[in-house]
Amino acid sequence: MNSAAFPQHVLVTGGTGFIGRHLVAACVEKGATVTVLSRSEHASGDKVRFIRSLDDFAAPDAAYSVINLAGEPLNSGRWNAKLKAELRRSRIDMTGQLVKWINRQTRAPDALLSGSAVGWYGHRGDELLTEVSEPGSGFSHQLCADWERAAKTDLREETRCCIVRIGVVLGTEGGSLPEMLTPAKLGLGGPMGSGQQWWSWIHIDDLVAMMLWLLEYPSYSGVFNGTAPNPMRQRDIASALGDVINRPAFMPLPGFMARLMLGEFADEILLQGQRVEPARVQAMGFEFSHPTLEGALQDLLQ
Ligand SMILES: NC(=O)c1ccc[n+]([C@@H]2O[C@H](COP(=O)([O-])OP(=O)(O)OC[C@H]3O[C@@H](n4cnc5c(N)ncnc54)[C@H](OP(=O)(O)O)[C@@H]3O)[C@@H](O)[C@H]2O)c1
Repeated sequence: MNSAAFPQHVLVTGGTGFIGRHLVAACVEKGATVTVLSRSEHASGDKVRFIRSLDDFAAPDAAYSVINLAGEPLNSGRWNAKLKAELRRSRIDMTGQLVKWINRQTRAPDALLSGSAVGWYGHRGDELLTEVSEPGSGFSHQLCADWERAAKTDLREETRCCIVRIGVVLGTEGGSLPEMLTPAKLGLGGPMGSGQQWWSWIHIDDLVAMMLWLLEYPSYSGVFNGTAPNPMRQRDIASALGDVINRPAFMPLPGFMARLMLGEFADEILLQGQRVEPARVQAMGFEFSHPTLEGALQDLLQ
């Protein structure tokens, strides 16, 4: 039996971020009330309440679920030892605390939906990757692997766990697209490095719809790739973006320049990538509203 039931209440970490804001709005639209755990003060309303500590949240007596997306942004500076420690602490330690909190509640949440990223697969050239592919290596892989482990380890049995390995999320109010758009408008948005690296992108609306769908169906658990069905090479993404905004994408960013400006972040995130397919959600019948990059960019930019 797999009858859909959206939780009446959703607790969200990272709910003030780019993906989180869209998710919170979508949960409210579904009729849920939402509690957002944030490090800063925000005004609470009828449907969305903000808390500074998990201790401020009394688990509701009705069905509820938890979405866990908090994490220091990967592009918040050069990846020195201090930033790397914060990238890990803000995801892995926070997730461990959240699981401990879940295990202490009298009523268990139905689901924990926890973030991860396609960086889990490491750098794999042209290999087509699905949820059953082997793990990769490197800092991003280790970060994601430990983040996923923190969500699953010791989580009480009554709470199912869905992990979403998120790709490059395209939206106008955050993520990579606004950062690509500025150079692209100046005709500077050409290939980065060789431009051959695969980027597994997804439209923000499809990612949010996929996450709500995973929360809604009680039989779903395990790892899911949060990417569109058509990953593309970075140079083809740059060229498609140039076409949509009518600016040729001719000026390349040489790899050495990217490394000079951005250090290890350039190597791990920009100059290499993964060719990821969302095999599990496709097999389960999830329908993408924006399966092609051209369609997704047109929807967002025109
Ligand atoms: N956007 C993408 O393309 C993409 C791709 C793959 C994976 N992801 C992952 O998905 C998650 C959400 O992405 P996003 O784009 O929405 O991120 P975002 O806009 O940077 O938001 C991250 C959220 O995490 C919280 N946060 C930031 N730094 C923190 C720290 N040092 N300690 C604790 N909390 C911190 C912030 O909440 P408060 O300030 O309210 O506390 C913020 O709302 C992230 O973990 C990200 O790594 C995103």
